[in-house]
Amino acid sequence: MIKKITIDQLKPGMYVADLNNQWVPKSNASRSGLIKYQSTIDKVRALGVQEIYIDTDKGVDCPDGIPVDAVKQLQAEQFRSISVQSGTRASVRTSVEAERERAHKLYGQTKNLIGGILEDIKQGKSVDAEAVDNSAADLVSSLDANENALACLSYIRSKDEYLLEHSINVGLLMGIFARSKRMDNDLTRQLVAGGLLHDIGKILVPDEILNKPGKLTPEEWEEMKRHVSYGEQILDVTPGLSDVTRSICALHHERLDGSGYPRNLPKDQITQVGRMSAICDVYDAVTADRVYHVGMAPNEALKKLIEWSIFHLDKDLVYDFIRCLSVYPVGTLVELSNGRAGVIVEANRRQPKLPLVRVFFNTRHQHQVETHLLNLADAKVEVEIINTLDARALGIDIRPFM
Ligand code: C2E
Ligand code: SIN
Ligand code: SIN
Ligand code: FE
Repeated sequence: MIKKITIDQLKPGMYVADLNNQWVPKSNASRSGLIKYQSTIDKVRALGVQEIYIDTDKGVDCPDGIPVDAVKQLQAEQFRSISVQSGTRASVRTSVEAERERAHKLYGQTKNLIGGILEDIKQGKSVDAEAVDNSAADLVSSLDANENALACLSYIRSKDEYLLEHSINVGLLMGIFARSKRMDNDLTRQLVAGGLLHDIGKILVPDEILNKPGKLTPEEWEEMKRHVSYGEQILDVTPGLSDVTRSICALHHERLDGSGYPRNLPKDQITQVGRMSAICDVYDAVTADRVYHVGMAPNEALKKLIEWSIFHLDKDLVYDFIRCLSVYPVGTLVELSNGRAGVIVEANRRQPKLPLVRVFFNTRHQHQVETHLLNLADAKVEVEIINTLDARALGIDIRPFM
C-alpha cells in the first residue's frame, strides 16, 4: 500500500515510492527506493522535504501514515461538497469583458512598478511604499468590479518572468481571498501589498541559484531560504509599510506543524494573514510552469492544497480559499456535455458548477471551433461540465483564449 508520511516518520527500512515526490532532487540518484541509512533521511530533510510517500509492500510499514487512497478520497469528497456550496461574495458588478481593458492596463503598470522595485533593490535603493500602496488600491478596485478580469491575466504568464508575475499573482490572490473574508478596504490593500512584496528578498539570492534549472543542493537551499530574511531586512527600513504587509513577507513560509522557515514558528504564532499568504503562495507556485517543473491545472492544485492541509496548511482557510476561487477556477480547461471543450473565464460563486466558459474545441472531432462564450448558468443553456482536462498534458495552450 502507498502511504503518505511526514519526514519525521521516515525510518531506515522504509521504501520511498516514486509518487508525487517532485521535491526530492533528481540529481541525487533515484527518487524512489529503500532507505538504508539515517543519513539519507537527514539529506532528504535538508532539502526541505516535509512529506513523502512510502510503499509498505516493499519496505517497513508506518502505522501512522495515511493511505494514498484515503487522501484521494478526501480530496474527491471535499470537492464534491464544495462544488454545491455558494461562496460568500455577492455577484460581480461589471462584466469580465468590460473590466478587461482596465485590468490589462493595471496588470502592466503593476509589473513595471514591481520590476522597477526589484531593480532598485539590487542597486541598494529603497522601496517606494506609497507607490506600492497606490498600486494595491487600484488592483483592489478592479477586483471589486470583476476579479475574473485580473485572474484571467494572471494565467497568461511567461516562463522567464516568474518572480515578477508570481509577486503580482500572490498580491491578486490575497486581494480576492481578503474580500471573500469581508476584510475592509484598508486591510485588503495591506494584504495585496504584502503579496506584491512577499518574495522581494529573492532578488538578493544569486541568479545562478534563483534561476537554476534543476533541484537545489543543500547549500543552495540554505541560501534560497534566506530570501525571507533578505525581504524582511528590506521592508524593515521601508517607511510607510503596515505591520500586516511586512508580516506577509516574514510568515509566508511558516507552516502550522512548525516545519516552516525561517523561524520554525508554532501554530499559535502564525497569524491568519500569514496562513492565508502561505496558501496563496503555494497555489500560484504549483500552477506555474517553472524551469524545474511543469505547472498543475488549477483544480488539481486546489486538490493538492487539501492534501497539504492535513499537515501544515490551515484546513479551514484552504476550504475558504477553494470556495472563493470556486472548485473550477478561472483558467481551468473543461470538457462539456455538448462535445465541446473550453476554458473558464469567469467563476460562478453562487453556483460553482455553472461558470462562464470560452469554448474553442470540438472534443468529438478533435479540432478547434470558432471561439464563443457559453454561460452555463443561463437557464436556456442545458450544458454541464463532465470533466476537467489537463491543458499542459494535452499540449493545449489556453493563453490565447483568456
Ligand atoms: P516558489 O517556486 O515560488 O514556491 C513557493 C512555495 O510553493 C514553495 O516554497 C513550496 O512550498 C511550494 N511549491 C512550489 N512548487 C512545488 C512543488 O513542485 N511541490 C511542492 N510540494 N511544493 C511546491 P519552498 O519550498 O520554501 O521554496 C521557496 C523557493 O525556493 C521557491 O519559491 C523557489 O524559488 C525556490 N526553490 C525551491 N525548490 C527549488 C528547486 O528545486 N530548484 C530551484 N531552482 N528553485 C527552487
Ligand atoms: C509540500 O508539502 O511539500 C508543499 C506545500 C507546502 O510547502 O506547504
Ligand atoms: C524563481 O524565480 O523562483 C526561480 C525561477 C524559476 O524557477 O522559474
Ligand atoms: Fe517565498
